[in-house]
Amino acid sequence: MATERLTSPETQPADAEYAGNVLRPTRLEEYVGQRELIERLSIAIEAGRRRGEPMEHVLLHGPPGLGKTTLAHVISNEMGSKVHTTSGPALARGTDLVATLTRLETNDVLFIDEIHRLPIAVEEFVYPAMEDFRIDVTIDSGLHAQTVQIRCKPFTLIGATTRAGLLSSPLRSRFGLVHHLQYYDSSDLLTILIRSGELLEMADPPTDALGLIAERSRGTPRIANRLLRRVRDYADVKADGRVTKDVVELALSLEGIDELGMDELDRAYLGTIAKVYGGGPVGLEAVAATMNQDPGTLEDVVEPFLLQTGFLARTRRGRMLTQAAADHLGVRAPQPITDELFER
Ligand SMILES: Nc1ncnc2c1ncn2[C@@H]1O[C@H](COP(=O)(O)OP(=O)(O)OP(=O)(O)O)[C@@H](O)[C@H]1O
Ligand SMILES: [Mg+2]
Repeated sequence: MATERLTSPETQPADAEYAGNVLRPTRLEEYVGQRELIERLSIAIEAGRRRGEPMEHVLLHGPPGLGKTTLAHVISNEMGSKVHTTSGPALARGTDLVATLTRLETNDVLFIDEIHRLPIAVEEFVYPAMEDFRIDVTIDSGLHAQTVQIRCKPFTLIGATTRAGLLSSPLRSRFGLVHHLQYYDSSDLLTILIRSGELLEMADPPTDALGLIAERSRGTPRIANRLLRRVRDYADVKADGRVTKDVVELALSLEGIDELGMDELDRAYLGTIAKVYGGGPVGLEAVAATMNQDPGTLEDVVEPFLLQTGFLARTRRGRMLTQAAADHLGVRAPQPITDELFER
């Protein structure tokens, strides 16, 4: 269910095949929002360039769909180099990484997605590579064991994760630049939608209509672009291709997306806590079991947005609805959330 959700921040096949790559910015100046990060990156890139060194290693963390993968490509473009993409779960053994590292050219970017899932055995290979552009490979074992050092070219490692808390501290400390990506505000999302509208060759959709999409995109560019495509389909079939505010309203309510960008799954989650558990506090596992959902999915794709909008509180005794959520759902007010309930 979660993967088919229109408002899921996680990538879906249609994103990449039809429009993801077309809509992806390729230069720093096209990258909308995250201004502080962009400033830090452009300084780091320029500093590296002046010293004739690759840029420092970068760790990007934050919720899905906010532009981490995009940034890895943008950075390598700016450095005039190539990106080599892999991911934590794809690197089962240290030797898997050796092949990749030895193929890198000077200033190339090695992008490791889901870096929190890098097996510990692989992490050991990564340390010397990050620090000295060197790989230590042990051949033979027991008495005959010996370590051979292989040099690799100076490169930039870009790690991306939605779960920075799961990263080991030795790994984390080897990144020169660590940055948390923020949710985008509606005006940044509007800028992205205007650009996407042009790239998708839509007939000048009015700004107020796009603004409505921006407000319902949960602060996430991937969702904004996906809703835009859905609205475009609706307009093509039902409104001679004209996107107006009304068309956006109709298209999105057909998908069950309300004025805050919440969909059925969000409402089911909130509704379960409200109706079954009296507004909480309740453990995530219990909510997940009642809804017949995977707790990890709820934690990764449902809760971050609800926490961000102030509908959900994570307290020491479990999840609780806030007054704002009760108002939105039209249910009885939950018990007040007192300070002592809050996690330290
Ligand atoms: N700053 C931005 N400006 C314009 N478009 C953006 C921006 N950030 C992301 N996008 C759009 O959103 C889509 C999703 O971004 P991206 O794939 O980089 O997210 P991600 O953070 O890597 O997500 P995940 O954690 O799921 O891997 C991109 O294809 C791009 O079209
Ligand atoms: Mg990504």
